[in-house]
Amino acid sequence: MLRKDAKLELIRSVPLFAQCTKKELSAVASVAEIVDVPAGQALVREGDSLAREFMVIVDGAVDVRRRGRRVATLGSGDFFGEMALLAHGPRTATVTSTRPTELLVVTPEAFHELLERLPSLQSRVLKALAERLHANAL
Ligand code: CMP
Repeated sequence: MLRKDAKLELIRSVPLFAQCTKKELSAVASVAEIVDVPAGQALVREGDSLAREFMVIVDGAVDVRRRGRRVATLGSGDFFGEMALLAHGPRTATVTSTRPTELLVVTPEAFHELLERLPSLQSRVLKALAERLHANAL
């Protein structure tokens, strides 16, 4: 477990949260778990309708595959898992770490709370959601 200040600094280092006030950072820190995964770990599986966590890459890289075909590579500062959460549907892709990766993992309940609390997060998630839906529809 990281010390509270170290956890706040880690979260502040993620561009997604760079604009947050100290109070907002504390709110994120209180609900986000820091998880380290090795390369080659499936973090989200396409079609899974049970797991609904939202994940932010603090440091690392992942592949996003739909029906086995790579549709994106995400890296530090990017996030994933918002689609199933917001649509209450199955996962739309399989996301696998391609190198040792450090993640912030947020439960669905906490994700909804954070979205309400942080307008900047809300607009970034909305933009990514639109882009990804659009890309997947092509
Ligand atoms: P979700 O459907 O919950 O789980 C798989 C995740 O992969 C999805 O949320 C998005 O976060 C991400 N994803 C799906 N399609 C794309 C895409 N075209 N580009 C980038 N990320 C994607």
